[in-house]
Amino acid sequence: EKVILAYSGGLDTTAIIPWLKEHFDYDVVCCCIDCGQGNELDGLEERAKLSGASKLYIEDLVDDFSDNYIIPCVQANAVYENKYLLGTSMARPAIAKRLVEIARKEGATAICHGATGKGNDQIRFELGIKALAPDLKIIAPWRMTDVWTMQSREDEIEYCKQHGIDLPFSADSSYSRDRNLWHISHEGLELEDPANEPNYDHLLVLGVSPEQAPNEGEYVTMTFEKGVPVSVNGKKMKVSDIITTLNELGGKHGIGIIDIVENRVVGMKSRGVYETPGGTILLEAHQQLEELVLDRATMEVKKDMGNKFAQIVYEGKWFTPLREAIQAFVTSTQEYVTGEVKFKLYKGNIIKAGTTSPYSLYSESLASFTTGDLYDHHDADGFITLFGLPLKVRAMKMQEAEKK
Ligand code: ARG
Ligand code: SIN
Repeated sequence: EKVILAYSGGLDTTAIIPWLKEHFDYDVVCCCIDCGQGNELDGLEERAKLSGASKLYIEDLVDDFSDNYIIPCVQANAVYENKYLLGTSMARPAIAKRLVEIARKEGATAICHGATGKGNDQIRFELGIKALAPDLKIIAPWRMTDVWTMQSREDEIEYCKQHGIDLPFSADSSYSRDRNLWHISHEGLELEDPANEPNYDHLLVLGVSPEQAPNEGEYVTMTFEKGVPVSVNGKKMKVSDIITTLNELGGKHGIGIIDIVENRVVGMKSRGVYETPGGTILLEAHQQLEELVLDRATMEVKKDMGNKFAQIVYEGKWFTPLREAIQAFVTSTQEYVTGEVKFKLYKGNIIKAGTTSPYSLYSESLASFTTGDLYDHHDADGFITLFGLPLKVRAMKMQEAEKK
């Protein structure tokens, strides 16, 4: 029987190959899914085969991830617990979907992943697989503590050696990281104690800290069509290239570094630092345009929906009717989110420098202090009388009650 292994080329997933063969006698098909992690993919096939895999798929998911996962999250302004831009969370369902597609193509009966038993990722992979292929068996070695006995990198290296896999893996463990086109996450080491300041000099990968950023700000313009970014600085680009471009700009100016203690789905708090330079700019620019274009009532509901969307994505419930329904609502709100935004990047800040849209609801004559046809100051008298009626009545009643 065949198993599809979500393979990164790292030590953990490499050790899983001989383990799957030894304990289940599986034919192991490895699948390395590229969501823009910037890994060296050369030599990966050799490495997988050397470790006992019968085949390696290298799947370029960058555009699917950008267009079908990142963009809906941007449009929803999906941010978990006010800070986390969901970089890892939104990639997992994209990966799960592709793993299922390959399982079907290969006639595999199981999918195996290397996520730990304490994290969110296991949930996201497995909910995705269950929703798309309820018949497939899921193997999570790290939870099978009776048969998966390796506890450390040294154990894994030793296990690999015993099975004839002698590859140059370093024994030292760094941060636990997850990188893709949208972000990189860092957990572990000094971050495990929230009392510690992150060691930014060692930690940052996508850019510099605001202190290290240039003393000179940099202007950027972006255009959007129906809530989708289409150009940066006058150059039309596909979404994935826009994110790459914004990552460079944002990284250079120290944008999008957050330090958060978040609540994992499995119950514990965990501390992480995330770099989302381009994503932070994209979300901000998109909001800058929405401010001009969306009416107040829609904005209000959209904000709640966005929070709900973030929670759904964080919890791995991508392939659900609720996610689809909220996304349909959000898509409908994007009809007129078309226009141009300009802003300045400066030492970790995104400073607005002008917004225009053919569908702007902003009326200068209405907002300015002069009296015009549309707005008669006297109308505000009656409006405030009615608007303030309930609280005035309540205050009067309280006064009466106190006198008694
Ligand atoms: N805590 C973040 C999340 O739940 C990031 C997880 C990073 N995953 C990893 N395998 N290092 O989305
Ligand atoms: C993992 O355990 O695989 C990483 C952490 C997480 O999923 O939250």
